[in-house]
Amino acid sequence: MAAKPKPLSVVILAAGQGKRMKSDLPKVLQPLAGHSLLAHVLDAAAALKPALIHVVYGHGGDKVRLAVRADNLRWVLQAEQRGTGHAVQKSLPGIPDDHTVLVLYGDVPLIRTATLRNLLALTGPKSMALLTAKFDSPDGYGRIVRNARGQVTRIVEQRDCSARELKIRECNSGVLAVNAKLLKRWLGKLKPANAQREYYLTDIIAMAVKDKIKVAPLIAPTAVEVQGVNDKLQLATLEAEYRRGRALELMLAGVTVIDPARLDVRGAVTCGRDVVLDVNVVLEGPVQLGNGVRIGANCVLSQVQVGAGTNIRPNCVIERAQIGKSCEIGPFSRVRPETTLHDGVHIGNFVEVKKSEIGTGSKANHLSYIGDTTVGAGVNIGAGSVTCNYDGVNKWHTEIGDAVFIGSGTMMVAPVKIGDGATIGAGSTITRDAPPGKLTLERSSQKTVEHWQRPVKK
Ligand code: UD1
Ligand code: CA
Repeated sequence: MAAKPKPLSVVILAAGQGKRMKSDLPKVLQPLAGHSLLAHVLDAAAALKPALIHVVYGHGGDKVRLAVRADNLRWVLQAEQRGTGHAVQKSLPGIPDDHTVLVLYGDVPLIRTATLRNLLALTGPKSMALLTAKFDSPDGYGRIVRNARGQVTRIVEQRDCSARELKIRECNSGVLAVNAKLLKRWLGKLKPANAQREYYLTDIIAMAVKDKIKVAPLIAPTAVEVQGVNDKLQLATLEAEYRRGRALELMLAGVTVIDPARLDVRGAVTCGRDVVLDVNVVLEGPVQLGNGVRIGANCVLSQVQVGAGTNIRPNCVIERAQIGKSCEIGPFSRVRPETTLHDGVHIGNFVEVKKSEIGTGSKANHLSYIGDTTVGAGVNIGAGSVTCNYDGVNKWHTEIGDAVFIGSGTMMVAPVKIGDGATIGAGSTITRDAPPGKLTLERSSQKTVEHWQRPVKK
């Protein structure tokens, strides 16, 4: 029987300044695919269900703390950055001896949970695990030194490398997993005897070897997941990698992606069968697309559910909305938060819908604003109609019943109610409730001036 896994403490190093970002935003808060670098790492860590996540922070202290939220989070201040070993040391008082400690970097955002699981499986009372990676250009990384039998014996930082060691292509990712008690013992013995006068976490490898603790290396399946972000170029490179990976996932799941390089998937996106995504689509999760949904070019969908068979034409922006089956949306529609569109709804060009519910089969096809409104089923809202929901101070509700016909250019001054089956004449300004089943209109009568002449130029 396998031994029961030890409780897990994840330590995320995030105290570095990130000078090369040339930004007022702390490095770990720089956004990748819409979320901070640190948020990506926290997600990967949280999926392991650790007992506690310790984030070592320093630069940009309060900004970092305020920007990030997660369960079981413990903030550890490292006021002075004296090296990775020093940073981990700071977190130790909050970690019980029987825990397994997993060290992650706040600026290595694409680390995958599956890889971390494999790493943890290599960790035990007599072994520690080290995530390494082979880089074509290992510049800047610590090198993994192995003996003739291929066993890892130590890590040497680039600045401390001999000419021979500089040629080693296997690098230290920085990610490692080790029993807390051993870690405490070794970190207590660190000395800043190196080119940078820092306490190197990497020095514990040689200590482990000396103490007959096996160092189990795991070579990362892809280099991207251990790549760190130090400048805006690396940030964009990893963003592109992320984008590529997410598009690939969708395509393997059966989604037709017209151009994977022009699709941005951020966060959780699930798709039914035969979904088609045209170019320049941005999906910010959670997004759920039902069977046969088509999203046209240049659409942004954020936290949206779309029912089967719905067609979203180009240039729509849809945020925090639920959209039913077989709807027709766009081109150029804006659907704002807290909107529910039932099945078969049509929302056309230059129509904005906010905090409203629109019933089955209803249509607003051109140039309208519908806000704080409930619309029944089978309603037709004519071009250029507006629910005037705001009196300058408060927002008011409009209620439109079933099978209503709103003529073009109607202003409905809320609070107001249009009864079932009512017809509103075009160009009306409706300030009082319109009764069901009748024609209501508000309009000055049309006149024609006889014998009128256009002025002539003097
Ligand atoms: C470190 C490793 C190196 C590895 C590389 C991978 C050491 C000594 N070296 O080098 O072997 O190849 O990462 O990217 O561990 N940090 C703190 N407090 C500190 C120092 C660093 O929180 O006092 C954090 C940084 O914010 C960063 C991470 O630790 O997230 C790594 O620090 P960095 O200075 O980038 O390490 P490297 O010199 O690149
Ligand atoms: Ca450094």
